[in-house]
Amino acid sequence: MRSLIIAVVQFEPRLGQKQSNLKKIQELTRQLKADIIVLPELCTSGYFFTSRSEVEEIAEPANTGPSADFFRELARRCNAVVIAGFAEKDHDRLFNSCLIQVPEEPLAKIYRKTHLFYKERFCFDRGDTGFFVIHDKPRDVRIGPMICYDWRFPEAARVLTLLGADIIVCPSNLVTDAWGIVMPARAIENKVYVAVANRVGKEKRDTEELLFKGNSAVYSYNGSRLAKAGPHKEEIVSAEVYPSRTRDKSFNPLNDILTDREPVHYQRLAER
Ligand code: ACM
Repeated sequence: MRSLIIAVVQFEPRLGQKQSNLKKIQELTRQLKADIIVLPELCTSGYFFTSRSEVEEIAEPANTGPSADFFRELARRCNAVVIAGFAEKDHDRLFNSCLIQVPEEPLAKIYRKTHLFYKERFCFDRGDTGFFVIHDKPRDVRIGPMICYDWRFPEAARVLTLLGADIIVCPSNLVTDAWGIVMPARAIENKVYVAVANRVGKEKRDTEELLFKGNSAVYSYNGSRLAKAGPHKEEIVSAEVYPSRTRDKSFNPLNDILTDREPVHYQRLAER
């Protein structure tokens, strides 16, 4: 059974300093050996924007900007699938997006964050891609992206599971601790791996400061933690995963978490 190494890169992006953020990622990943590399949300730009005009200045079109070139090169150099958050500009629309760059592919797929957190609503449009899963045939892995605050909506992880994800990847800029309880639950209830790449550091705007809580982690499909970074340091942590083990959703001879579902009893309320 094939195993893969998944690495989560935890670091401190600097607000508005794309060049130095890309340089930092370059340095951190120089020796990295992994099959899948997950970086934080908005890792090229920093996070705490307060207006659309600020995001406009740093946002890039999907697949044609310098960040897209950089991550394509990173994917090829490491021969790894790269997942990285960036501010995306599509004509007059702005998205909190992540790219999923498979090294063999000329273009990355783009996921646009569905659930906007806090002041993101003043800076970004709500994502319109919906949830999807990338089937990477060379590595035989199905990767489902969501971004940070999407974690608070169990529907996100469930939809990715129904679409066939083996691994949910979650570029993040987390400022609370609650996710540390919830992510392993998402892993168990969906029988999927979950990889959270969080950032560290603080960003201050006027009188308000956000503290990003690190603790990036990889969870197995049984909820156990396979790898964990610390709360403050820039570091990369890795885990060995077996994607095909997530595909049989039974957990005893008579129960299976997908076929035991009773969607008729969820439907009416879930659509409200
Ligand atoms: C978040 O969605 N950045 C908390």
